[in-house]
Amino acid sequence: ARVAVLISGRGSNMEALIEACATPGFPATLVSVVSNRPEAPGLAKARAAGLSTTVIDHRAHADRPAFEEALHAHLVDVGAELVCLAGFMRLLTAGFVERWQDRMLNIHPSLLPSFKGLHTHERALEAGVRVHGCTVHLVRPDMDNGPILAQAALAIAPDDTPDSLAARVLTLEHRIYPLALRLMAEGRVRVVDGRALVDGAAS
Ligand code: GRF
Repeated sequence: ARVAVLISGRGSNMEALIEACATPGFPATLVSVVSNRPEAPGLAKARAAGLSTTVIDHRAHADRPAFEEALHAHLVDVGAELVCLAGFMRLLTAGFVERWQDRMLNIHPSLLPSFKGLHTHERALEAGVRVHGCTVHLVRPDMDNGPILAQAALAIAPDDTPDSLAARVLTLEHRIYPLALRLMAEGRVRVVDGRALVDGAAS
């Protein structure tokens, strides 16, 4: 499958996807890295890995639909079949999301449906939960919502801080995003009643 990755910043999840796609036999090829921010550090990393990068700056477009029209046109242009949001910090309209229904993935640093939105590690600590983690899911118009493809969890330690948690969760993110992409690229995921069922997986 041809995959585009959308970033806004550091791009460490993008790097994990680049590495996975470079593994012999991996069923996906990265065809484009797109950033809505020209200054995103991930762009240089993508270029260094030999990937084609494109900036579609939301500030250069009149409104959200105009920005999304340019984004959609680019994705069609590069022949993207799957889209991976990887630290992409723009909310997408329902219209755009519906055009990529069941073909667009996101990674979120919490065990959804807990802690949607920002500052997930602070909020997990404040809530006193003992288990925390990350989720890869199919994108739906509601933010951080949608059929779950993969999750990984860790135990919160008494001395964890938002930074220590962020670092440990990030290593899990880098493991599960490639796994989820593989499932999608292999066509093994069916969405039934709002849930992602993986063919060939014990349930
Ligand atoms: C990750 O924690 C991801 O879950 C969240 O934003 C962060 C992006 O990090 N959506 P990076 O740009 O992939 O390094």
